[in-house]
Amino acid sequence: MLLPAFLKCTLTESLCFQLSNFNTMKHNVTLNYLLLAMSILFGSCKFSEPRIVMEFNKGWRFHLGDVPQVMSPDFNDSSWRILNLPHDWSIEGEFDVMNPASPGGGALPGGVGWYRKTFTVNLKDSAKLFFIDFDGVYCNSEVWINGQYLGNRPNGYISFRYELTPYMNFENRSNILAVKVDNSQQPNSRWYSGSGIYRNVRLVKVNKVFIDHWGTFVTTPEITGNSAKVSVISTIRKELADAKDLTIKTSIINRKGEKVAESASDEKIFGCGKAKIQQVLGVKDPDLWSVSSPGLYKAITELKYDGKVRDRYETVFGIRHFEFDSIKGFLLNGEHLKINGVCNHHDLGCLGAAINTRALERQLEILKEMGCNGIRTAHNPPAPELLDLCDRMGFVVMDEAFDMWKKGKTTFDYHLYYDEWHRRDLEDLILRDRNHPSVMMWSIGNEIREQWDSTGLGMAQELAGIVKNLDITRPVTSGCNEPNPWNFIIRSGALDLIGYNYHQDMFADFPITYPGQKFIAAETVSALATRGSYDMPSDSIRRWPVRWDIPFNTGNKDYTCSSYDNCSAPWGSTHQETWKIMKKHEFLSGMFIWTGWDYLGEPTPYSWPARSSYFGIIDLAGFPKDAYYLYQSEWTDKPVLHVFPHWNWNEGDTIDIWTYTNFDEVELFLNNQSLGKKSKTEDDLYLMWSVPYEPGTIKAVAVKDGEEPFAKEVKTAGTPAAIMLEADREVIKADGKDLSFITVQIVDKDGNMVPGSDNMVHFSVSGEGFIAGVDNGCQISHEPFKADYRKAFNGLCLAVVQSTEKSGKIILKATSELLRGSEIEIDVR
Ligand code: GAL
Repeated sequence: MLLPAFLKCTLTESLCFQLSNFNTMKHNVTLNYLLLAMSILFGSCKFSEPRIVMEFNKGWRFHLGDVPQVMSPDFNDSSWRILNLPHDWSIEGEFDVMNPASPGGGALPGGVGWYRKTFTVNLKDSAKLFFIDFDGVYCNSEVWINGQYLGNRPNGYISFRYELTPYMNFENRSNILAVKVDNSQQPNSRWYSGSGIYRNVRLVKVNKVFIDHWGTFVTTPEITGNSAKVSVISTIRKELADAKDLTIKTSIINRKGEKVAESASDEKIFGCGKAKIQQVLGVKDPDLWSVSSPGLYKAITELKYDGKVRDRYETVFGIRHFEFDSIKGFLLNGEHLKINGVCNHHDLGCLGAAINTRALERQLEILKEMGCNGIRTAHNPPAPELLDLCDRMGFVVMDEAFDMWKKGKTTFDYHLYYDEWHRRDLEDLILRDRNHPSVMMWSIGNEIREQWDSTGLGMAQELAGIVKNLDITRPVTSGCNEPNPWNFIIRSGALDLIGYNYHQDMFADFPITYPGQKFIAAETVSALATRGSYDMPSDSIRRWPVRWDIPFNTGNKDYTCSSYDNCSAPWGSTHQETWKIMKKHEFLSGMFIWTGWDYLGEPTPYSWPARSSYFGIIDLAGFPKDAYYLYQSEWTDKPVLHVFPHWNWNEGDTIDIWTYTNFDEVELFLNNQSLGKKSKTEDDLYLMWSVPYEPGTIKAVAVKDGEEPFAKEVKTAGTPAAIMLEADREVIKADGKDLSFITVQIVDKDGNMVPGSDNMVHFSVSGEGFIAGVDNGCQISHEPFKADYRKAFNGLCLAVVQSTEKSGKIILKATSELLRGSEIEIDVR
């Protein structure tokens, strides 16, 4: 078949990807391999090719809707849309209360989608083995190559591989991959899932002696002050009948790129099959991985067969030891550490579920800046890039497998597949993730309904057994919303670490309820807030704002929740309520707050027109809500003085001014008149002044013993006059993926952000980029995310620009009727 050039992907062409992504790929090429890649690109191949891992995301054809015979190689897809993966078709759709996902699932469309990709392979590769790796397809995927059915995978979050070797065509005959994705049966999730091949895909080419898929297991069984033992178990797969000399050599490379250990052994494998080889290496003065200094090592495993290097496989790992203790809580490398973590769902706001490493990195950067040091992958296997980032940036991860077992939570969720797939899915999760130093807990489930059913006893034991068979270095836990000892999952004895969801008032009694047991608060808080919205009285707590039957508890007509930390779900608490308890007891090893970021779906306490969550400490667009600074003041040593709310009210109003601070004392001024000094007692997490409103300037001046005073001002803003743009990064990579997140502020003539402003902003982009998404963090906006316009919400909106593969400049212009427009330039290199 004759193909347009851009749809052809030969192995040689795609090596370009590996060169440009050398630093980010997990199973990466080594220097020799880079030389090899270069030599192929430049036409002279002097080296044997140990392994080629190719990103396989470009030039797919996509069709939304089911069509017969798409899997047939002869199917004509020329009219289909061409796109690059990762791709989420739901995020491109329109919000509609009638979409079967319902507001709980984000109210965006699902359906069936087909993807096809055509590629060719050189004849010289006919003696190689080929695999296709999918990091995640939501959901119910089925895959064919050249009309041959490879299999199905119901679980939308799991990573999987198919071997293509027996069905491959070589030289001038094309190969055609067809993937059917079926997300039509809904609801199947309690949050937004996205639809499609929303994570990365890779084509892997290896020799017939190679390290198997997820084929290394690195552990550090002994760590002392000045040395560590590193065990590397490698699974070798051999598809050759002969048994020539085989050498396996593993080298350990530190973060400076120096080789710090090496071990080689000669082996014999007779016939075809798999063999496991263990090597134990010593590392002197190990650079211990921690949340503040996440030093990483690489194990490079090289296989020589019949005198030639046949495979080179790289595993990133860390050297650290940790312990959960019933008295001391959590210890990392022997030192006490409170896990100050958050739960996050997998969506990336306006980018939907389509994975983008920079977008994930930004999420983590903003959390890190708050002092957060833990992530729970609620409630499913994450994208591998998330764990790579947590390894690199220093987060303790609770890696979670399931949100339900056999008893479902929505009509079409995983309970339908549990019997057939739970073992395989859980094993694959552990095999994929067990080398990540950041992963320190396996969660076998969140709020599993079998807690209240005796079947939970055996099921919990079975799942824990599956985990333990593959990894005994991390505890097994589960997010239990039934904290009583008769809970069948807890009673099963399968949990090494008892995980409570909520029930903070029972935390203190844990040592009595569960003598000698270890504790983690798997999920806490569930406070509700809309960025920039404030309801007085600020210190009266609304537990469930839409209970119309309860006076003062009626919810807001504009579907907002107050940001004073005075609003929470009834099963949860405000931020302060839980944190006060957490910080008091050392045995409480840590917590994962529901949630770090707002996410699509689950718009508790409202429903339509609301379509995204209120739980985040950070809104969907990435703008921190006020509670962010509460944690920053408690969890970091940075000088924090956050003064809120805004200062645009009606004359005659009395407004509560709050500060979150880690200074000893704060004095507040209104138009230069002192409103008094206040200092925090041990139990205070904020300071408050009730102030009769008059326009002007609120100024807070904070002092700490022996330090310079620190001041923050909030001014009454005038009418909207201009747009101000600020990019999180002004230089991005020309890799077709990198992003700049541009914050758009509506300001008055003096540059003060105008609270409550909701001007419509139009964007235009020129140069080497395009708009990947727009947002404003408003939970009830039905504007599309894939657009070149967005209304501001409480003064802010966001435009995300993405690079092309050409270097140059991106110019983003923002205009709005009656406002002075603005433009910003991003360098693409
Ligand atoms: C929990 C549940 C989470 C989320 C949260 C909202 O009970 O585990 O998935 O639904 O409630 O408060």
